[in-house]
Amino acid sequence: MTPSAELIGQSVDSALALPKQRLCQMLQGCLDSLTIEELRTRLLLVKEMGPARGSWSAAEVVTVRFGLWHEQLRQIRESRSLERARHYLKRLLRSFEEVKTPSFSDINLCRWQEYDDLWTDSLWNIERRDRSGQHSSHYWGNFVPQIPHQLMRRFSKAGEWVLDPFLGSGTTLIEARRLGRNALGVELQESVAQETWARVQREDNPHKVQSVVRQADSSSVDFRSLLDQHQIPNVQLAILHPPYHDIIRFSDQPECLSNQADVDAFVDGFTRVVAGVEKVLQKKRFLAVVIGDKYAGSEWVPLGFLTMQRILGLNFSLKSIIVKNFEETLGKRSQRELWRYRALAGGFYVFKHEYVFLFQKKG
Ligand SMILES: C[S@@+](CC[C@H](N)C(=O)[O-])C[C@H]1O[C@@H](n2cnc3c(N)ncnc32)[C@H](O)[C@@H]1O
Repeated sequence: MTPSAELIGQSVDSALALPKQRLCQMLQGCLDSLTIEELRTRLLLVKEMGPARGSWSAAEVVTVRFGLWHEQLRQIRESRSLERARHYLKRLLRSFEEVKTPSFSDINLCRWQEYDDLWTDSLWNIERRDRSGQHSSHYWGNFVPQIPHQLMRRFSKAGEWVLDPFLGSGTTLIEARRLGRNALGVELQESVAQETWARVQREDNPHKVQSVVRQADSSSVDFRSLLDQHQIPNVQLAILHPPYHDIIRFSDQPECLSNQADVDAFVDGFTRVVAGVEKVLQKKRFLAVVIGDKYAGSEWVPLGFLTMQRILGLNFSLKSIIVKNFEETLGKRSQRELWRYRALAGGFYVFKHEYVFLFQKKG
């Protein structure tokens, strides 16, 4: 079988929009075949089907990925028996006609194989930061956009609200615009909040979602009244990326979590933020904490596990601990040899990872 001329040259990951009604009719025709040979002949026509041209609504087309689509057709064609081929065909047809999503995302489980750009393993190795659009690395201590991207796609639906109580340079809000999620960001520093608000507004807003930036101390603000001021009933996902205690001093403000006198005060302050967020997070929805550890007084201080333990004392259950590679800061890169020497001499390992702790609010 050769694919139709207009499909030759497609990359395996390219999307192919096929007219849904015609496609389902043709697959049904294959299903009605009386012999495996007849089924294979009819399948040839399906394989040669060209993409939907002109203006079609999203409901009128089926979008498949070229590589996977041809793999599915190959599996049917190479089935040894008519019964087996019909089994695969029915499964394929069902995947186009049925939509089954988890209560917390838009992922169509009937077509789960199409989502191979969504990560499901607990080790995240992100080689390159996404610097497109308004994303940039100018803000010291910001996270890579791929983190909120993955979290929002897996744990929120289009049109829902995402809360980020440590807004910084607005990575979450920029990504939320792209993914069609409304988002509220809270930042302690007035100047940072203002600058971030301007940047978020420069990002395209193709889905016409709302982006809200507020200056406040997340460890004491009443999130309920903050949401009420914007007529937001509650949020469906919270992404928290606090300072890793005093590793980076974000400001001199006493409420700043990077300015707390010791680790206990940092963990207390952070726990207050989580407790406040919990009150406005919808039941059974997710809260993600992106955090790294620190080294002090010749000891590894496990900020991640210390904060995790406190969150488990609130109304949350632990769903995953993800380990993510840590980009070397420019300073550390230039001193790589020195750090290696220090590690060998001092009996420790140089930080190369941080965590994404994933929690689900209990009922
Ligand atoms: C690690 S950064 C977040 C970076 C962000 N994820 C980004 O990609 O730009 C932490 C941010 O939390 C802010 N912050 C610290 N303490 C805070 C508090 N009590 N309330 C609100 N924001 C706070 C800091 O000013 C800093 O901008």
